[in-house]
Amino acid sequence: MWAKRVASTTIAIVNPKGGVGKTTTVLCLAELLTDRSPVESPVVMVDLDPQAHLTALLGATNSPSIATTLQEQGAIGDRLVAAGDRLVAAGDRGWLLPGGLDLESAAVALARSPEGLLRLRQALAQPWPPLESLGKLDEQKTKPFLATSPAQTQSPLVLLDCPPGLGFWTLSALAAADGLLIPVQCQPLALRSLLALMETVASVRSQLNPNLRVVGVLPTMSERRAPWCDQVLAGLQDWAQASRGAIALFPPIPRSACFPKLTVDGKLLRSGLVRQRRSVVLQGYEAIAAVLVDRPSPTHPT
Ligand SMILES: Nc1ncnc2c1ncn2[C@@H]1O[C@H](COP(=O)(O)OP(=O)(O)O)[C@@H](O)[C@H]1O
Ligand SMILES: [Mg+2]
Repeated sequence: MWAKRVASTTIAIVNPKGGVGKTTTVLCLAELLTDRSPVESPVVMVDLDPQAHLTALLGATNSPSIATTLQEQGAIGDRLVAAGDRLVAAGDRGWLLPGGLDLESAAVALARSPEGLLRLRQALAQPWPPLESLGKLDEQKTKPFLATSPAQTQSPLVLLDCPPGLGFWTLSALAAADGLLIPVQCQPLALRSLLALMETVASVRSQLNPNLRVVGVLPTMSERRAPWCDQVLAGLQDWAQASRGAIALFPPIPRSACFPKLTVDGKLLRSGLVRQRRSVVLQGYEAIAAVLVDRPSPTHPT
């Protein structure tokens, strides 16, 4: 459990296909994990998608994104905003590093430099500020972080919400992560994007991040009695079995109207999450949260 102090752990939520549930997974995991984490192990969500849906859902579209800060090698801690207004359990433990359209231009600029792909990793490796002493979102806009002393350093669990595709920010996330979690929508052709992803993971391992591990795969939007859904689940099962236990196959998240409803606005997100807390639709997310809470070391998140 969290009693043991560990270094920060970074999990990238990745699938090159759009609309498979990456952002929903980040939100649901943050909700469940902040509920279980003590103050010294907060959850930091990072929005790496220029479309910035996560940022919008957490009501932070007016907050500056991390793009310029990463470009200028500033402290990304200065960009943190509290997620407590929108997640039920977040309190002082749920934080967001916002994304925005300027991630596009930052990617173009950073891609010119040989170490550009490592900039996110370097930024996340900096000591974290004392998150519990920060105010809520409104206060946050006017209140930059104070200097951090090593004694105040914390060990957050960092969730990277990746954009679709295998472009600059997805590669940066894979270079920065200890582990990756792959939501796979139970749809025909779902396994094709998985193959492309695994080729990219292999090349990131060999060139940038040898410790990158696949934590597991999460089937999303599963539907009973849909033949294509059974095919995808069978394919994922084969893949997990072939990994001899290294890759977990988490319980499928059923297709449920509660998820699109969650994302209408922040208030609904909060009240929707309250309603779903004990629901079967969150079981897959609960299983992942249990694995991440038990994280034994930063390089062995499973
Ligand atoms: N289990 C689910 N059942 C039904 N709709 C879902 C489910 N998970 C996600 N969605 C919806 O699917 C859409 C895409 O999800 P999102 O998390 O934004 O995907 P991504 O980040 O991969 O693009 C959103 O409208 C979301 O509310
Ligand atoms: Mg998304």
